[in-house]
Amino acid sequence: MESSARRDLPLLTPREVYERMDRYVIGQEAAKRAVAIAAHNHLKRIQARRLRRTSLLRKSNVLLIGPTGSGKTHIARNLAEILAVPFTTVDATEYTEAGYYGKDVEVMVADLLFKANHSIEDAQRGIIFIDEVDKIARRTQGARNGAGSRDIGGEGVQQSLLKLLEGREVYVPMNVSQAWNRGDFVAIDTRDILFICAGTFSDLIHYGASESRPLGFGAQGGPLGRRRISTRQLVDYGMLSEFLGRLPVVVQLELLGEEDLLHVLTEPPDSIIREFRELLEVDGIELEFTEEALREVVRFSVKKELGARGLRSILEHVMGDVMFEAPERRRHHVEVDGDFVRARLGELEEIGVGL
Ligand SMILES: Nc1ncnc2c1ncn2[C@@H]1O[C@H](COP(=O)(O)OP(=O)(O)OP(=O)(O)O)[C@@H](O)[C@H]1O
Ligand SMILES: [Mg+2]
Repeated sequence: MESSARRDLPLLTPREVYERMDRYVIGQEAAKRAVAIAAHNHLKRIQARRLRRTSLLRKSNVLLIGPTGSGKTHIARNLAEILAVPFTTVDATEYTEAGYYGKDVEVMVADLLFKANHSIEDAQRGIIFIDEVDKIARRTQGARNGAGSRDIGGEGVQQSLLKLLEGREVYVPMNVSQAWNRGDFVAIDTRDILFICAGTFSDLIHYGASESRPLGFGAQGGPLGRRRISTRQLVDYGMLSEFLGRLPVVVQLELLGEEDLLHVLTEPPDSIIREFRELLEVDGIELEFTEEALREVVRFSVKKELGARGLRSILEHVMGDVMFEAPERRRHHVEVDGDFVRARLGELEEIGVGL
């Protein structure tokens, strides 16, 4: 039963998790630290279980609150890689309370089992990332638009998630794609599955680049962000307190500023600029970007409030012609400068590509 070869390895310490994450995740210091601690506790729980000890450690499910493109999904995905556990991301809005049209929450666990190559043991210590949990807020007395009609989506889904988050056995089909044949079900215990929920909660917090605050100095307002959102606010927003109670680690992510985004472009081992350079290297072309060129890209993403999420599509547009023609041009060196980027972004502004 105990199939893992990693069984005897010492647990990664929070610092080790943090340092590994730090190579890929720019800024978001508070989030990286909190998630690293949660991850360490997750490993401890799993180990206790392996040694057949009962553990008093509370499950350290996480709620990440942050603007679009700040790294919520990115952090969770990286964490799964660092811990070498199966990972699945799901969208809270696709689920419904049992009995309604839509997916039952158990499907999340089936997804994870699939990602774990059908290994029950691996799935049971994996990570499920539930995105857009702010969209399953309870709608009270038609406080928001669409009064009443959307109730099936919200509160009921939170209710159904309670047991999963806390830990219980669920029966899922061994193979999601197969017909739901009674005999093919397996029991998965969600007790040690780490749930990371995420949402922008943009009605609660104004993320826009405030004029008074110079961009580029990421976590200015202290380690936990400028305005802490309280549990009270989340409850008023429509999150059930039982739901929040099962997400003991709440972390706010910062809007990434200009300097952060420059680092995102160039620093991580899998950064977008490295990727473009590597692509052209195959054709024997050395690709350079001036700092001004990179700043223009970054400023555009900041202006559109896209965070790191916008960088790729902006660069794809900027680089379109270069990538198309470069392999035939037989030049060994291509430099992309500020003027070039400005010209291309001007077009983007005009045609209003869906960025
Ligand atoms: N802090 C960061 N450091 C490095 N790269 C980042 C960071 N944040 C985002 N990215 C990059 O931007 C992409 C989009 O980020 P991600 O999907 O994590 O955003 P998000 O916070 O989940 O936003 P959304 O709410 O729109 O889903 C990631 O794939 C990653 O490449
Ligand atoms: Mg995301």
